[in-house]
Amino acid sequence: SHPFDEVHSIPSFAVDSLRLQKQIDELSTFSDSPAPSVTRILYSDNDVMARRYIKNLMGLTGLSVREDAVGNIFGRWEGSEPEVPAVSTGSHIDAIPYSGKYDGVVGVLGAIEAINLLKRSGFKPKRSLEVIMFTSEEPTRYGISCLGSRLLAGSVSLAKALRQTVVDNANISFLDAAKYAGYAKNEEFSDVFLSKKSYSAFVELHIEQGPILENEGMSIGIVTAIAAPASIKVDFGGNGGHAGAVLMPQRNDAGLAAAELALAVEKHVLESGSIDTVGTVGILEVHPGAINSIPSKSHIQIDTRDIDEKRRNVVIERIHESAVSISKRRGVELLEFNIVNQDPPALSDEFVINAMESATQVLGLSNKKMISRAYHDSLFMARIAPMGMIFIPCYKGYSHKPEEYASPEDIAKGVKVLALTLAKLSSN
Ligand code: GLV
Ligand code: MN
Ligand code: MN
Ligand code: MN
Repeated sequence: SHPFDEVHSIPSFAVDSLRLQKQIDELSTFSDSPAPSVTRILYSDNDVMARRYIKNLMGLTGLSVREDAVGNIFGRWEGSEPEVPAVSTGSHIDAIPYSGKYDGVVGVLGAIEAINLLKRSGFKPKRSLEVIMFTSEEPTRYGISCLGSRLLAGSVSLAKALRQTVVDNANISFLDAAKYAGYAKNEEFSDVFLSKKSYSAFVELHIEQGPILENEGMSIGIVTAIAAPASIKVDFGGNGGHAGAVLMPQRNDAGLAAAELALAVEKHVLESGSIDTVGTVGILEVHPGAINSIPSKSHIQIDTRDIDEKRRNVVIERIHESAVSISKRRGVELLEFNIVNQDPPALSDEFVINAMESATQVLGLSNKKMISRAYHDSLFMARIAPMGMIFIPCYKGYSHKPEEYASPEDIAKGVKVLALTLAKLSSN
């Protein structure tokens, strides 16, 4: 039992919601699209400025700041036993095109406020506490989700790809983009890997991105597992030609092959028979993209997820079979069927779950155990540390769109639960 079992006796155990909201609003102005939407793409000028903002805040909080070769940012509060594994928390601040200002951001600015709250309350950590801002949780620029945490968790294939092959839509290599933003000085991305002894626990605070907590009037979600995500890139090629002159029987329309595959994705997902299987075609591009030209190339990207990895893998196999049969039947070429990632799900750690749960109890907050259908950096941190996630309600479950919203009161509750959880884990 430590002093933080009785937070009501700590007069100053209050979140500075006004300041935190101001920070959330300020950070949202580093955006490539107009408010209320936020677009913040990896290594863009706005991303670089947002990173500076975070590093500055970490510094003002008294954390010692370190950045790795891909720009994961670490702010450390040294504990009284600095040699033992630290407790870490964090999330991301990159934002997909035309999204909102809370996804990820709450878990970074909220974590810094949780540290400030602990400091104001007179807490002294035993294990060091670290706030992490992960690079590119979103796959927007390079098609790789959780790029920073995937690398921290030791993905050798990713380290190699980042050095050699990864380019964006404009053919800018990952290396060039990272250097532009001031990173990748030595190009040895294996330096980024963390040892399994780095952290005794990792906790991420995040908006739920679903409607359950709000609908059920619950303050806090305690995540027990994160669903298994996968993404696939597909390219079809055909002869193209004049939209008037080439008659229908002579066509091999790459655009229609993509359209048919998009419908097949929906069909295979529904065939799984489970409400937990989902599939999305969020990118569908045709070349040359002229009204009077038959598409000669098409590109689609497929996102599919499930809480059951095997069932999701069956869906991926069916999608592949459909891609092959569609290309045969339509006489188009299947130029690429690239499974970019096919990640297993992750389970939260019992000990971390207990710490989060007892934090909600000390604070008198209702909580609900739930799974995360969205993926998070926690999916990869779970590979190197016992992991847990704290969800807070968000308006109508909206996320990945400008209407995303979480109230200052709900954010404050999440920050308090995070602070107490960190205190507990740090003392252990
Ligand atoms: C994260 O942004 C996800 O797509 O789940
Ligand atoms: Mn997101
Ligand atoms: Mn997120
Ligand atoms: Mn492609």
